[in-house]
Amino acid sequence: MVSNTNSEQTEVSKSDARVTGPAELTVVLPTYNESKNVPIVVELLDKALAGVAWEVIVVDDNSPDGTSQVTADIAQKDPRVRIIQRIGRRGLSGACIEGMLASSSKYVAVMDADLQHDESLLPKMLEALRSQNFDICVASRHVEGGDVGTGLSSVRAWGSNLANNLARKFLKVELSDPMSGFFMLRRDRFVELAPRLSSQGFKIMLDIVASGKGALRVKELPFVFRERQHGESKLDTLVTMDYLGLLVSKLFNDTISVRFLMYSMVGGTGVVVHLIALKILLALFGLPFGVAQLIATFVAMSSNFFLNNRLTYRDRRLKGLAWVKGLFTFYVICSFGILANVGVAELIYTNKPIWWFAGAAGAIMGAVWNYIVSNALTWRK
Ligand code: GDD
Ligand code: MN
Repeated sequence: MVSNTNSEQTEVSKSDARVTGPAELTVVLPTYNESKNVPIVVELLDKALAGVAWEVIVVDDNSPDGTSQVTADIAQKDPRVRIIQRIGRRGLSGACIEGMLASSSKYVAVMDADLQHDESLLPKMLEALRSQNFDICVASRHVEGGDVGTGLSSVRAWGSNLANNLARKFLKVELSDPMSGFFMLRRDRFVELAPRLSSQGFKIMLDIVASGKGALRVKELPFVFRERQHGESKLDTLVTMDYLGLLVSKLFNDTISVRFLMYSMVGGTGVVVHLIALKILLALFGLPFGVAQLIATFVAMSSNFFLNNRLTYRDRRLKGLAWVKGLFTFYVICSFGILANVGVAELIYTNKPIWWFAGAAGAIMGAVWNYIVSNALTWRK
């Protein structure tokens, strides 16, 4: 034990390039299951940032592979390393925001922890902010000298292209690589914009630049996207929904939250599910309208619960026992909604027996109720 402590101390004093004193640059590393990569990244940062007073904040969403503990072990030997372990929350943007807010440095950078981002670019990014007076420096794969390399599959590359065009068209953001997750900016600028940023989704850089509304001086530097060495990507197709939500939210000048938009989108699918179920129950099973409407409501509610849990509330996603409890409370809470739904639908149907109109009116009634109550209770913070 004693000899172990001694050897750790020798290890610390060995590194002479280390600059002591308060950090000028904080590198935020969002992580989910990156226990194999974090030690390598820290070593690479140490080399790349020789002569700079830097620190790294790993923001880990309680990864099952023990990334938090691996980071804590490194931090025991290296005080430049810090860990924020978040429990019960998931999400790339939220993790980045939290990490940047935990910094007191003049500059903050965000970088993937999976070795896909080239850390040797950091000193150049720092220089652009320090002496060229830029507010934010974005590492781009689409300027001269940059490349998506082999890090993106062709489908992802195509999707990335489409998302780029949408951002340019709708957000009027002049970035060659709006999807880039590798950037550095002045912390004071970030703090100014932070209240307007969405913690959902994964497009934090785009959100920052779009929220800055052209007031930010942006510098782009080329980099080559590297291939992931260990572990796997966490960005599934569902995150593109977050992206669309962000686009629309920004278009409406932040007056509509991304979450509400997502909830509405899910609500929209719920109406379709409801009508399909209703049609099947009426036409195929010949059930009386009231009964068919009741069953269709449960089908739509269940589908809404699954989708909202996967999408709208993916950062508060319920799992295991909490999931079962959540579904149960969702049903109980919304039973009042169902009463309103069936009541309204039947009332309309008896006056005007148009199945789709009555069904949709009831479903919308239930959806509004569901949003208010489930946001406060089922997925409460
Ligand atoms: N804390 C936290 N929480 N970290 C996360 C989460 C999360 O829910 N999801 C992903 N991360 C971390 C990963 O551990 C990794 O360090 C980094 O965020 C990027 O995640 P990947 O899963 O490797 O994303 P990718 O390689 O598919 O996407 C990257 O490239 C895209 C452009 O093609 C990211 O940089 C995206 O931001 C970028 O748009
Ligand atoms: Mn990656």
